[in-house]
Amino acid sequence: MSDPSQQLWHPESYAARGRFVSDLGAPVLELLDPRPDERVLDLGCGDGALTEQLVARGARVIGVDASSAMVAGARARGLDARMLDGQALTFEAAFEAVFSNAPLHWMLEPERVIAGVHRALVPGGRFVAELGGHGNVAAIHGALERALIARGLTAPRDTFFPTPEHYGGLLEAGGFKVESIALIPRPTPLPGDIGDWITTFAHGFLAPLPPEERPDLVAEVALALRHQLFGVDGIWRADYMRLRFRAIRQEAAQP
Ligand code: BEZ
Repeated sequence: MSDPSQQLWHPESYAARGRFVSDLGAPVLELLDPRPDERVLDLGCGDGALTEQLVARGARVIGVDASSAMVAGARARGLDARMLDGQALTFEAAFEAVFSNAPLHWMLEPERVIAGVHRALVPGGRFVAELGGHGNVAAIHGALERALIARGLTAPRDTFFPTPEHYGGLLEAGGFKVESIALIPRPTPLPGDIGDWITTFAHGFLAPLPPEERPDLVAEVALALRHQLFGVDGIWRADYMRLRFRAIRQEAAQP
C-alpha cells in the first residue's frame, strides 16, 4: 500500500495514544440519537470503538475506513467494517443515517464526501458529524510549520478545518438542509505529551524529514508550545476546535 497512513494508523498505537478521540464522541452520538434497527453508516470508523456503541444501541451499522489496519481492528470487534475511501462512497439509498466522528478533516475533497453521503442516505436521512473546525490545532500546526520552514521545508496541506459557513454552504449545495452547525472550542487533555500527539496525528509534518532528524524537531516544537499548551497540573492540552453538525438529506442534490 503506497499510502503512508496505512502504516501510521495502527489500532494498537491508536488505542494507546488516540483513544481519547472516540472517548470524546459522546456529544456527536447524542446528536445522532440512533434508533433501534435503523441502518447507520459510520464514515471513517477507525478501530470501531464508536461503531460498537452504535451497535449496542440497536442500530444496524456498517463501518468504512480508508486504513486496512483500522478496518482489521474494527472487524476484530466483530463489526461489519469495510475498506473504503470516504470520498468515493458506493452506497445507494442504503442508510437512514450517516455518522462520522473526526475523520472528515482528512478528506480534502468535501464535495465528493457530501455527494457520496447524499447518495448513501434515503430521502430525509440524517448526516451527523464532528470534525476539526476553523482554528483547530492552530498552535500545534503553526509551531510545526515554523520548524519546517526554518529547515527550508514546506508544511503539508493534509487536513482542512472549515468554518461553519464554509461546510454548511457545501452541505446545502450538496442537497442537505442544515439543522445545526457550530464551532466548539475544546482544549483536550492528552494521555501523553505533545510529542506523542505529533507522532500520532501529525505524521505529514514529519514526513519531509529523514527519520533521524524527527526527534529533534518534535523536541523543538514541544518546547515552543510548552507555555501555551502545558498546564500547571502537568497535563498537555491540544487546542482542538470541533465543528459539529446535523443535516438532513433533501430529495435531490442541487445541480
Ligand atoms: C483532530 O482530530 O482535530 C486532528 C487530528 C489529526 C490532525 C489534526 C487534527
